[in-house]
Amino acid sequence: MDDLKAELLAAVAAATDLAALDEARIAALGKKGRLTDAMKALGALSPDERRARGQALNEVKDAVTTAVEARRATLARAALAARLEAERVDVTLPTRAERAGHLHPISQTVDEIVAIFADMGFALAEGPDVEDDFHNFTALNFPPGHPARDMHDTFYLPDRADGSRMLLRTHTSPVQVRSMLSLKPPIRVICPGRTFRSDYDMTHTPMFHQVEGLVIDETTTMAHLKGCLVEFCRTFFDVDDLPLRFRPSFFPFTEPSAEVDIGCSRKGGELKLGNHGDWLEILGCGMVHPNVLSACGIDPQKYQGFAFGMGIERIAMLKYGIPDLRTFFEADLRWLRHYGFLPLDMPSLARGLVG
Ligand code: DAH
Repeated sequence: MDDLKAELLAAVAAATDLAALDEARIAALGKKGRLTDAMKALGALSPDERRARGQALNEVKDAVTTAVEARRATLARAALAARLEAERVDVTLPTRAERAGHLHPISQTVDEIVAIFADMGFALAEGPDVEDDFHNFTALNFPPGHPARDMHDTFYLPDRADGSRMLLRTHTSPVQVRSMLSLKPPIRVICPGRTFRSDYDMTHTPMFHQVEGLVIDETTTMAHLKGCLVEFCRTFFDVDDLPLRFRPSFFPFTEPSAEVDIGCSRKGGELKLGNHGDWLEILGCGMVHPNVLSACGIDPQKYQGFAFGMGIERIAMLKYGIPDLRTFFEADLRWLRHYGFLPLDMPSLARGLVG
């Protein structure tokens, strides 16, 4: 018995790859294996002999099984290590120009927006694409049944056990709520991200991007809001005298609310940004509504602040002369090569925004 055990274990130990190990396993434990044969032969023995020999055989079987598994783990590790070695990629090698990837204009635009606001002292904040009703609507002063909810063409997920349902966020404003709930004033955050509405035509895609800004402290006013946005628009569009016009508007989560237009000209069917007498709407903003502050655990008697939200595709189209919104999401490589950006040209205010 000891010889048999030593022999089988030696065969397992001698296997240098997974195929050889399998052979050794079958030779011992397979249908016609040595141990299987020996087990079959037990039937011819007397009951006492059978018990003793059966027990001994089982011990050998356990030892061989354990040895096979251990050897298998060792060989698998070695095989993986060999494969990793063989498929090693030197990431420091330069890429070939024709293989170089490009940054999507949305990524570039987000990087630019974040660079400008980071320079003004804003921190980056993010939130989930799948939201609940509280963060997307209720905390933003859209009470249940409020008509403004209908304007959002919301995508809902299936009902949960308690009857509530999650949704795809219809704007980046829920990140305001999350920021106020998790940070202590003073708060200064910029929140870019994906947003979703059930809408598809020349100027709407079901997934698009927005960026949200939020400032909360004790003394922030509409004048600060205006200063930040003027600074942002002039830097982003690189037009020093770009005029901004604040028009009264309505959003449930701000009071007062405004929409902001930038100066442009549409002469000859061509859009040109600057001080040319015509106007183009680019964003919504206002002073955060006291109900929103309260819903987010911030005392409206002590704190106040402003918020703004804008569509990223829209300002990317304006800045980079991209005529059709839908092309952003067609994943057409020729389009990406034409409108894309070199990946290592991170925008910074010091170097200028555009590479
Ligand atoms: N959430 C608004 C929308 O999607 C945009 C917006 C407007 C955001 C005004 C704001 C704001 O923070 O103050 O239409």
